[in-house]
Amino acid sequence: MLVLGSPGTLWVRVPGSRFWRDTVERQEAIEFLLDHYQNPRNHGAFEPVDVTMPGGNPGCGDVVTIYLKVDDAGDKIEHVTFEGTGCTISQAAASILTEMVDRKPLAEVDEMDFNDMIDTLGREVVNTRPRCATLALGTLKAAITKYRTDKVRADLDAEH
Ligand code: FES
Repeated sequence: MLVLGSPGTLWVRVPGSRFWRDTVERQEAIEFLLDHYQNPRNHGAFEPVDVTMPGGNPGCGDVVTIYLKVDDAGDKIEHVTFEGTGCTISQAAASILTEMVDRKPLAEVDEMDFNDMIDTLGREVVNTRPRCATLALGTLKAAITKYRTDKVRADLDAEH
């Protein structure tokens, strides 16, 4: 049992209690984010790619660039990587996202939203930072949109 104090208050942290569980889960979520921030997975450009898509949050200037390769059938992500600079959550989220969507159908990424990122990153830590948590996902969705647009254009050109 731990006793925490702050001015005018005293909490008793009892193992097994909700407060205990929330505190442990929050600490695990922070460590999960820090690990991905300090040791980013799928980091850096590669060749050949179908799309290079820059994204950013104008309010803070943080940026993420997504590099996307789609399989020959045009249905699944073959490989996706990122580069970027910014806050811990935005960069950790980019790293985590690349693992979440590896070899996933594009249609599944279409369905992903804020809640998927929040649930994976740790709701209690990133709930108040939706822009940070979804910068990479929004950029990946923009990359997929560009992939589809380019493919339609290429198909039309091939017909003429
Ligand atoms: Fe800019 Fe997090 S503060 S993306």
